[in-house]
Amino acid sequence: MPRIELRGLVKRFGRTVAISGLSALIEDRELFAVVGPTACGKTTLLRLIAGLIRPDKGEILFDGVVVNDLPPPARRVRMVFQGHDYALFPHLVVYHARRWSNLSFPLRLRNQGLREISRRVRRVTRRLGINRNLFPRRPGELSEGQKQRVAVGKAIVLPPQILLLDEPLSHLDPPSRAKAREEIRELHRELGTTTVYVTHDLAEAFLLADRVAVMRVGRFEQVGTPREILDSPANRFVSDFVGSYLDSVRRAFVWR
Ligand SMILES: Nc1ncnc2c1ncn2[C@@H]1O[C@H](COP(=O)(O)OP(=O)(O)O)[C@@H](O)[C@H]1O
Ligand SMILES: [Mg+2]
Repeated sequence: MPRIELRGLVKRFGRTVAISGLSALIEDRELFAVVGPTACGKTTLLRLIAGLIRPDKGEILFDGVVVNDLPPPARRVRMVFQGHDYALFPHLVVYHARRWSNLSFPLRLRNQGLREISRRVRRVTRRLGINRNLFPRRPGELSEGQKQRVAVGKAIVLPPQILLLDEPLSHLDPPSRAKAREEIRELHRELGTTTVYVTHDLAEAFLLADRVAVMRVGRFEQVGTPREILDSPANRFVSDFVGSYLDSVRRAFVWR
């Protein structure tokens, strides 16, 4: 389960600089969160790590080896995409043990036996709260929150080397979200997959991850434990970003 090193990454789209000289080290087996406002480059960063796009400058290393030229399948990275189809197969049902289905797909591809398939699927569906009655449905027959859970399940049913999650719980209601978050933590402890978790929700990042990067247009402003970021924000941007969350929590209480 590799450690990920990002060295001076730059990615432009025409005149937009989406990633501007970003460097970071994500440790082996770490659950690392990236939090920042919309359009700061979070999705672009994940796509660079997954190999879906190439940096204009800089290097990406897994366990000290430059992977810039490796195509996505060779990187053994799985990414759960933000929104829309979440990379689910629209024509396949959620789960069928003996057929190609969204949850059995990665396992059948690797020729896993029936017993192993149902053992692994049972584990992730239980953890993620994917009810059996959803198994015969196709993605088009699921709510957004259900789709997101199935997408996370599909990504981890056969643990990848690196897991990239792009706002994977954004469509869940707060209680389901809190539960799914706990399960992701638990699964991460069990599997030890190096995980990068992207969210625009500071509270979610703080509750989930051991270390959090606060991102602002194209680079990390601070990387640290939630405690470090709360107690000693690196600069004005970080303290304002943290402050805006604290304000919204306070305001919610005033309105009660
Ligand atoms: N394929 C693309 N073509 C042009 N601009 C893009 C593309 N992808 C992202 N961008 C731009 O790069 C910036 C970062 O986008 P993104 O990584 O999606 O941000 P986030 O995920 O943090 O909301 C935005 O200004 C966005 O408009
Ligand atoms: Mg995004």
